[in-house]
Amino acid sequence: MEIKAQSKLKQELEAIRQQAASALKVATTKEALEAVRVEYLGRKGKITGMMRGLKDVSAEERPLIGALANEIQEALGQELDARLDVLQRAELGEKLKSETIDVTMPGTFRPMGGRHPLNQVIADICTIFAGMGFEVIDDDFCPEVETEYYNFEALNFPEHHPARDMQDTYYTNAGSNVLLRSQTSNSQIRYMENNPLPVRVVSPGRVYRNEEVNSRKFVLFHQLEGLLVDEHVRFSDLKGILHEFTRQFFEGERPTRFRNSFFPFTEPSAEVDVQCIFCSGNGCHICSHLGWLEILGAGMVDPNVLQNVGIDPNKYSGFAFGMGIERLAMLKYSINDIRLFFNNDLRFLNQFKGL
Ligand code: DAH
Repeated sequence: MEIKAQSKLKQELEAIRQQAASALKVATTKEALEAVRVEYLGRKGKITGMMRGLKDVSAEERPLIGALANEIQEALGQELDARLDVLQRAELGEKLKSETIDVTMPGTFRPMGGRHPLNQVIADICTIFAGMGFEVIDDDFCPEVETEYYNFEALNFPEHHPARDMQDTYYTNAGSNVLLRSQTSNSQIRYMENNPLPVRVVSPGRVYRNEEVNSRKFVLFHQLEGLLVDEHVRFSDLKGILHEFTRQFFEGERPTRFRNSFFPFTEPSAEVDVQCIFCSGNGCHICSHLGWLEILGAGMVDPNVLQNVGIDPNKYSGFAFGMGIERLAMLKYSINDIRLFFNNDLRFLNQFKGL
């Protein structure tokens, strides 16, 4: 009886082994293998069921049947793992084959933008002055929509003074004293009003003038203002700084001259010219046949300006300068028409990519 029972269970297990073997034979996909695993080894699987039934088997036959069930379970598990491994390897092989990169194929062209040449030149100029210890000040100090006070009055341009006509200013209808700044010099006043001495700053920005447009003049352009105020500042300091600036900016010596001039907010005042590169000083329409192009105005800060911001001119002195960015860019890159900066013609702009 016992032998019978034992052989019956054994037969059942052998039958399960057979079934599993034939199921495995036809299982050629990962899903099919998984189904076999569930059917035989899953929680409710056939072999698992047999194992669970072992507790009802008599103590004598339990070891034998148990060992057989274990053996079948383990063998099936190993077989399943091995088959799955083969399939996964094949799948990976396929994937690698289909994803092979042909490095000789031409790439996809993705056009890249570039910095506008004026922004590039402004950045270059700021880097040069930063190297000489100047701080680049933020736009907060120098609004483009400005009052007459900061654009003119505090800079020692008295009301009705003809010097105001030197810069043909755009007034707004926001109020009779509200204008578009005609120079970045407003930043001098705004900075000194809000910061302690000594002052050593540069401030780039946009300015507006009601000019007749031609190859050298446009209604909007850019300037970079510089201001240094401290004890014992002399005109020779200004000359030294500006000479060093032109040397670095043009990457070498260029014929340059200081010329006597007048600005209400500086005394004495000067202008700096660079020899015209379009005619090498011989005279052409770009330099109005002068042979020189002006790049900046400068001078020693007028004592009245220092007084307007509460600085004692007997103790402190300073120099200031304001340079034309477009002029400098034109001279450096041989650009003969200021309007090119504002037309947004990509044939022009693309030449400055990656400068
Ligand atoms: N603001 C003057 C202009 O636009 C240029 C200038 C001259 C600026 C002398 C200065 C300066 O700071 O000291 O014509």
